[in-house]
Amino acid sequence: MAIERLVEPTASGDKEEERIEISLRPVSFEEYIGQEHLKNNLKLAIDAVKKRNDGSTLDHVLLYGPPGLGKTTMAGVIAHELGASLRVTSGPAIERAGDLASILTNLKDGDVLFIDEIHRLRRAVEEVLYSAMEDYKLDIVIGKGPAARSVRLDLPHFTVIGATTRTGSLAGPLRDRFGIVHRLEYYKEPEIGQIINRTAGILNTKIQPEACKLLAARSRLTPRIANRIFKRVRDYADVNGDGIVDTVIAKKALELMEIDYLGLDPADRNMLRLMYENYGEKPVGLTTIAALTGDEPTTIEDFYEPYLMQVGLLTRTPKGRVVTEKGRKHLQEMK
Ligand code: ADE
Repeated sequence: MAIERLVEPTASGDKEEERIEISLRPVSFEEYIGQEHLKNNLKLAIDAVKKRNDGSTLDHVLLYGPPGLGKTTMAGVIAHELGASLRVTSGPAIERAGDLASILTNLKDGDVLFIDEIHRLRRAVEEVLYSAMEDYKLDIVIGKGPAARSVRLDLPHFTVIGATTRTGSLAGPLRDRFGIVHRLEYYKEPEIGQIINRTAGILNTKIQPEACKLLAARSRLTPRIANRIFKRVRDYADVNGDGIVDTVIAKKALELMEIDYLGLDPADRNMLRLMYENYGEKPVGLTTIAALTGDEPTTIEDFYEPYLMQVGLLTRTPKGRVVTEKGRKHLQEMK
């Protein structure tokens, strides 16, 4: 059975948690901390669309990178900056071509359609999306058998923002329909500190600068995780202190959550330990790791690996994954 994780960078599914998460999201470029390169590129493209003012829309945008770095948030910012409405859906939610047709025909000129997990679109749906993105036409087949006929409907001019953790699994023709393709990078630690400070301000909680630094160092360079950890620490401060987050409170709360100084939680350490105890310095295949931990291979690939590789505890070789020297030392230290 997989270990439940506070640091899971996906949405938690808890309604109250989601409501707070949404209230913390920046709405404009000005409020959005980090991802400077991406912001500069998007600003330019958006300014150009606005300046032309000829009814043309922003090119379709593909955002990729590890979960929790702000792809959905950025889609909201883009729509806001364009002064457009945002419609949100996801690859797995669009089950049939008809579902997509109904979404597309309900859009208005200039709208932004955000498709999360776009790599999980079904093939039949993907094909309808191609022509819709390419020339704002919807090809649908009406009827069955010999009476079936194909009709072409005009669609409003809209912008798709696709988000995926893996560009590799996006079909070439779909990827080619995006004029703007960007990777979201892990944040720098001081940026995570700024995000925690901003969140503390919105939630009316005092946090000392040293405590903020400490939390930033343990948040896996990921805003969603930083905010989630902050909320737990704030609970701890309310229950066991006077509500102010200082280093003593922060350390104790992190200890309770079993998050170590690199931001790893028990599930990360468990995976590294199982790999090392069973395979030593030899490479291990993805499905073997998944069998060891009880997770899906995609969970290992999307949620565990990117950060462990980013901090140099794990590497990928053609023959499989290997715990690095640094990873082995970390396990020793955390025993
Ligand atoms: N909250 C979550 N992500 C953020 C970001 N990048 N900037 C500001 N606040 C955030």
